[in-house]
Amino acid sequence: MCGISGVVGLKNITEDLYQGIRNLEYRGYDSCGVALMNKNSLIVKKNIGGVEEVFRKENVLSVSSKIGIAHTRWATHGTVTKNNTHPFTSCDGSFAVVHNGIISNFRPLKDKLIREGHKFDSETDTEVIPHLLEKYYKETKNIEKTLLKVLNVLEGTFALAFITTKAPGQIFCAKRESPLMLGIGDEAKYVGSDFNAFIDQTKNAVIIDDGEYAIITRDSYVVKDSVTGQEIQKSITKIDWDSETSKKGGYPHYMLKEIYEQPQVVTNALEQDSDSLDEIAEMVFKSDRTQLVGVGTTFYVASYGNYIFSSLAGEFCPPISSDEFTSLANVDKKSLVIALSQSGETYDTLTALKFAKSKGAKTAAIVNVMGSSISRFVDKVILQGSGPEICVISTKAALSQMLILTMIALRVGVKKKVLTKKAYEKSMAALAELPGIIQSILNERSGFIHRIAHSYCKTRHWLYLGRGIYYPIALESALKMKEVAYVHAEGMPGGFLKHGTLAMIDKDILSIVFIPPREDKALYEASIHCVDEIRARSGFVLGIHFDERGKNKDLFSEELILPSVPPLIAPLIQLVIGQLFSYFTATSLKRNVDKPRSLAKSVTVG
Ligand code: AGP
Repeated sequence: MCGISGVVGLKNITEDLYQGIRNLEYRGYDSCGVALMNKNSLIVKKNIGGVEEVFRKENVLSVSSKIGIAHTRWATHGTVTKNNTHPFTSCDGSFAVVHNGIISNFRPLKDKLIREGHKFDSETDTEVIPHLLEKYYKETKNIEKTLLKVLNVLEGTFALAFITTKAPGQIFCAKRESPLMLGIGDEAKYVGSDFNAFIDQTKNAVIIDDGEYAIITRDSYVVKDSVTGQEIQKSITKIDWDSETSKKGGYPHYMLKEIYEQPQVVTNALEQDSDSLDEIAEMVFKSDRTQLVGVGTTFYVASYGNYIFSSLAGEFCPPISSDEFTSLANVDKKSLVIALSQSGETYDTLTALKFAKSKGAKTAAIVNVMGSSISRFVDKVILQGSGPEICVISTKAALSQMLILTMIALRVGVKKKVLTKKAYEKSMAALAELPGIIQSILNERSGFIHRIAHSYCKTRHWLYLGRGIYYPIALESALKMKEVAYVHAEGMPGGFLKHGTLAMIDKDILSIVFIPPREDKALYEASIHCVDEIRARSGFVLGIHFDERGKNKDLFSEELILPSVPPLIAPLIQLVIGQLFSYFTATSLKRNVDKPRSLAKSVTVG
């Protein structure tokens, strides 16, 4: 959470800094601030609100500066106020600091600093940093020595950057467990939480690892070890994302754009490097137990994975929510843990992987962001190649992960001889149909879904029901509804209804049932049975199904009919419908679609 960005250049950098921090806004948008330098004095401007609003209110672009740092906040310590907004400065005004992460020992540090005469303006953990810098600079009179001392006393996680009047023209930054990278341009150097901070300016990045700090000037950069101060040689990573794909391209929201990108995203997933898929399949095959880990949407992707591994490869791969992993998982040298993460930075997922590794387990991950912490931590990574997902709500990344898990499961099935080569080929042919079918659904069904979503947007409670592999689809679709439309939605296996929930059916609870194609006979019949149970109590059911028109006359209150598709890809089609339904409900309710409340794209705190 929180985005940090910094630029030092030959010319005025304020506009670059603005673009950089605006590109990171998906990491948090409670408040925003900048520190710039003019005639060797710091100028700090900050306020509550989004980046654009704060830059306008504070007239930031009118300040000319060749160096600056900026921050967009997702509040953890302290409420959303101007005083709690980064950057924070030292008492003497010579240091300005931005930070992402949590300084876990800030209370004792703050108490001591107050006793020593330092004045604090905020409730944040971050504010101890500029005061510590001021304190140790008085002792050392050397910025690097000061930084090493400060890093030594800080506990917790951080990516931080600061500028100082003691060394104008240099940005200092450091990393421990929160993401940070440098952008190496010809006329300027950049620092950012991720490469969106500088993707418009340069494609050359240097990824900072844990326990490293860096100093950038307009024409140089150096990375050093945070304990010894020794220089570390770093290689340049070429960013292969195009900055244009990070733009909205005519769509009203990134969420819609990203839903519409799915035919291409699926094609990219299908073209995944075969050797990498084989390698993970081999890891699954060789391990005694494979566990799938993710949180939020990716936990539901993991749940989907369990069904798909079970049905295609006869392999039970329990999904574990990353935040529960250390309490629940049972891992040893013979285990494999596969993590799912769009951002590759999710703290809980990284913690789960570290725990697994500490027990000797093998680790793998399917991740969207190259260079991210998780992608570099695991033994084997698959970069899913879904392109930048800017909307805070995950759509295309989740679909792609489900597909990649399916392709791995198919390979494991063949290795274990529970799947014939012919069955494998048939399944791959079914997957190959996915881009075209999603495209036709987006073209032909969006209007209808929009109308239904609009008609029922005032619904207070939705029940999302699915049987078998449609259960994780129901869970994920309900999460989409909650996070983007702020409408209560509960995902549930269809079989649960008669074990209590039927008592809740009334005019205020509307149900959505994800129904499989008829070929999936047992699952189909069980799903229709759910519909009957609700309808028998005069409940409302929106049925999403693949039957011909008229086949289910009077069964549903509303129905969404999908074209006939192979059963293997049917749940993935339903997932897309769930995404669209939430999107159109959110737009009907005039929600802040791309930046919903209380959410951040990459949750880098525990
Ligand atoms: C997705 O819409 C959510 N914002 C959230 O649940 C997300 O999936 C979760 O935080 C995991 O993120 P990751 O994929 O970046 O690890």
